[in-house]
Amino acid sequence: MGLIGAFLGLFSHDIAIDLGTANTLVYVRGEGVIIDEPTVVALRRDTGRVIAVGLEAKTMLGRTPDSIQALRPMKDGVIANYEVTERMLKYFISKSHGRRRLIRPRTLICVPSGITEVEKRAVRDSALHAGAREVMMVYEPMAAAIGADLPVHEPVGNVIIDIGGGTTEVAVISLSGIVTNTSIRIGGDEMDAAIDKYLRKTYNLLVGEQTAESIKLKIGSAYPVDGEQTMIIRGRDVVEGVPRTLEITAEEIRQAIAETVGSIVLAVRQTLEQTPPELAADIVDRGIYMAGGGSLLRGLDRLLEVETELTVTRTEKALTTVVVGAGKIIDDGDRYRKVVIRGEDT
Ligand SMILES: Nc1ncnc2c1ncn2[C@@H]1O[C@H](COP(=O)(O)OP(=O)(O)OP(=O)(O)O)[C@@H](O)[C@H]1O
Ligand SMILES: [Mg+2]
Repeated sequence: MGLIGAFLGLFSHDIAIDLGTANTLVYVRGEGVIIDEPTVVALRRDTGRVIAVGLEAKTMLGRTPDSIQALRPMKDGVIANYEVTERMLKYFISKSHGRRRLIRPRTLICVPSGITEVEKRAVRDSALHAGAREVMMVYEPMAAAIGADLPVHEPVGNVIIDIGGGTTEVAVISLSGIVTNTSIRIGGDEMDAAIDKYLRKTYNLLVGEQTAESIKLKIGSAYPVDGEQTMIIRGRDVVEGVPRTLEITAEEIRQAIAETVGSIVLAVRQTLEQTPPELAADIVDRGIYMAGGGSLLRGLDRLLEVETELTVTRTEKALTTVVVGAGKIIDDGDRYRKVVIRGEDT
C-alpha cells in the first residue's frame, strides 16, 4: 500500500461482525475475514479482569479453577451477558483496528431475524460502548443469502436456512427483502445438550459440553450415512463418581439428537407453507440453500431433501457465509443499501 492508500485507509475503516452464539467473526472492509474465534471469554473471578478471549478461552471451558470463570456471553443468538459481550467486542474491535486507531469504525452487525427491539438495543449499545462509531444491522439470513451469492435483489424466491449454535433461521428472500421467515432458538448447542442428556440417562455417564460437541462432530448425523462409525468416549460415572470409558454408535447419537433435528425440519416446512405461490414455484426450480455450522451435520441435507422434496445445497464455507455476506454489504454499500437496518429504525 502506498502512502495515499495508507492515508485513505485511516478513514475507510468499516467492519462487519457476525456475533454468534458459538463463534464471532469480523470482516474488515477491503481486507476480508480477519477474526474467527469462539464466543467465549475467560475472566478472573475476583477482579473481573479478562484473561483470555476466543479459542484460548474455549479450551478453558469446564476446566477452570475457582479463581477463573470461562463463559459464553451469547445465548440463543442474543446477548445473555451484556458486560462480558461488550468487553469481548472491545477486544475484537481493537484487534481488527490494526494500525488505524485514529477513527472509530462504522460497524455492521448481523442479528437474528427473530430479535426483539430490546435485544437490538442491547446489541447496538454494547457495540457503541465497545468502540464502534456508528452501528448498522442486517438480518442473519439476508447476510447468509448474500454470502451464498443468491440473487437477493431479483424477484425470485431464494430460500436460505442458517443453522447456528443457538438459533436456526429459515427465510424466503425476494427483491432485497425477507418475504417469510421462521426463527427458532434451537441449533447446534441443543444437539450437544441432547447428547449429554442421553449419555446421562442411558449410561449414567457425565460428559462436559465440549465432549458432547466433539461426539456430534465425529459421529453425529441426521440421516443414515455410509460407513457409520463408533466412538470411544470418556466421562464420569454418576453413581461411582469415577472416570469411565464407553463405546457409542452413530445410530445412538442420531436418535439422541432426532428431536432437535426434527424441530429444524419443522421450521423449514412451516416457512415453506407460508410462502406465496409464485415464489413457491421458483423454489421448486432453485431448491434450498443452507449455511451455518449446524448445516454441516452429516446427512442433514439428505434428510431435508426427503422431507421437502426439494434439492438442498450447502454453501461452500458454511461457517463463514454470514460474515462474508455482511462483508459484501460493507464493501459495496450502494448495492446493498436496502438490506441494512439503520440505527434510526432500531
Ligand atoms: N461438522 C459439523 N457438524 C455438526 N455441527 C457442526 C459442525 N461444525 C460446527 N458445528 C456446529 O455449528 C455450531 C456453530 O455454528 P455457527 O458458528 O454458525 O453458530 P453461531 O453463528 O455462532 O450461532 P448463532 O447463529 O446461532 O448465534 C456449533 O453448535 C457447532 O457444534
Ligand atoms: Mg450464526
